[in-house]
Amino acid sequence: MKLLYKGKAKSVYERDPGTLVMEFRDDLTAGDGAKRETKAGKGAINAGISARLFQVLQDGGIETHFLRFEEPNRHVVKKVEIVPLEVICRNIATGSLVRRYPFKEGQELHPPIVEMGYKSDEYHDPFLNDAIAMALKLCTREELERMREITLRVNDLLKGFLLERGIILVDFKVEFGRWDGRIILADEISPDTCRFWDAETRQVMDKDRFRKDMGEVLEYYREVQRRVLG
Ligand code: TMP
Ligand code: ASP
Repeated sequence: MKLLYKGKAKSVYERDPGTLVMEFRDDLTAGDGAKRETKAGKGAINAGISARLFQVLQDGGIETHFLRFEEPNRHVVKKVEIVPLEVICRNIATGSLVRRYPFKEGQELHPPIVEMGYKSDEYHDPFLNDAIAMALKLCTREELERMREITLRVNDLLKGFLLERGIILVDFKVEFGRWDGRIILADEISPDTCRFWDAETRQVMDKDRFRKDMGEVLEYYREVQRRVLG
């Protein structure tokens, strides 16, 4: 297979025209790649979690790029044209939100907050508004509205699914692509791209363990996998 793109945590290959293979690697990065580590098994854990969550979303009526999971660490996906935006949805204030605004750490957000960032390591994924996204010709106004609408639906579906498994969906990041003239969900949904807290103890179960050197990164990823697949 031809390697099309190697990102920080995934490699993308062309399988045949219109179909790609997304390989989840064991690499973990933070700070736009400034901090790097490899954790054996991380790729397969995230591929498994993400496959299950995409299935949940498809069952909930959300159109996605996901076609099938090839164990241990590959997703076969539709080839989409990725919109270079990171769409973030927050149910609880933490992370960059509390660094930028006077929210209290751990404060619940009703309704959830949706923010968008320009996907660029060079510019450090800066948050942007609709006017900037359109002026940069990243997408149209209708596409922005559609991405926000789908993101809130993703939030509702995943929040419920995870809470039944003892996990609070604190916040998450998704990406979208264009396919057959429509906006559909793409990329991955995993502990690398979400914040998950244990519903009882509020223990961190996601990539913040790596970002903040909290230790036991893979142990918690495995626990998320156990609950999501169980
Ligand atoms: P933030 O609080 O650092 O802005 O992160 C919000 C959410 O987005 C959190 O779930 C982590 C996720 N995220 C990514 O998936 N990729 C990124 O590059 C960043 C900065 C955040
Ligand atoms: N996107 C950033 C990186 O991979 C990390 C983050 O999620 O904090 O370097």
